[in-house]
Amino acid sequence: MRLFIDTGSVAEVEEIARWGVLAGATTNPSLLAKESGDPGDIVRRICELVRGPVSAEVVSSDAGGMVAEGRALRALHEHVVVKVPFSAAGLEATRALAGDGIPVNMTLVFSPTQAILAAEAGATYISCFMGRLDDVSIDSAEVLAGIVGCLRPTGVTAQVLAASIRHPEHVVTAAKLGCEVATVPGKVLRQMLDHPLTTAGIERFSADWASRPEFGEWLRGLVASGSVPASH
Ligand code: G3P
Repeated sequence: MRLFIDTGSVAEVEEIARWGVLAGATTNPSLLAKESGDPGDIVRRICELVRGPVSAEVVSSDAGGMVAEGRALRALHEHVVVKVPFSAAGLEATRALAGDGIPVNMTLVFSPTQAILAAEAGATYISCFMGRLDDVSIDSAEVLAGIVGCLRPTGVTAQVLAASIRHPEHVVTAAKLGCEVATVPGKVLRQMLDHPLTTAGIERFSADWASRPEFGEWLRGLVASGSVPASH
């Protein structure tokens, strides 16, 4: 499963892109509304940082408006994927944009039936919001399993994207269910780093090494000698 970052913050993408784990990013109007600066500049910068698909969302509610906005968003950068909210108009716009060769991320999909329609309209990604399903006491894992189970046997190429990820276990569930992508907020990506045994293990290695000061001297000498290639 590939990891996208779900954010409108360039600073957050700059921080986490350095880990080398991001394959793309997703934004939405709510995330961009929290940021200052030109939204187009933000989307372009995120595209440069992740060097992969970056979803930017249309806001019109009619198909013609969605298509016009989608084409304009796509013109921002070659990595832009046009995010279209699920509706009859959204399906129509998805078909038109896909026909132009523009990749679409159909968002706000909450059921297998909606996912089947999104796939048939030509969406490249189908975003199912886990957290928002759980918020209304609908088991997000069950819905996601239903979506994956409906799409896989039909051989459609649409990728299932787990979104509205609220905690690390959502990421694990999405991976186990075979989702192609999970888009994860920076906060949850940072939570995924943590394990008390990792922290304790690093502290113990460090203390044991420090108990032999001559070893520290030796390593500093090795680094200074330049005998280790800087990169390969
Ligand atoms: O990926 C969609 C996401 O941004 C929505 O998350 O937490 O507002 O449901 P949330």
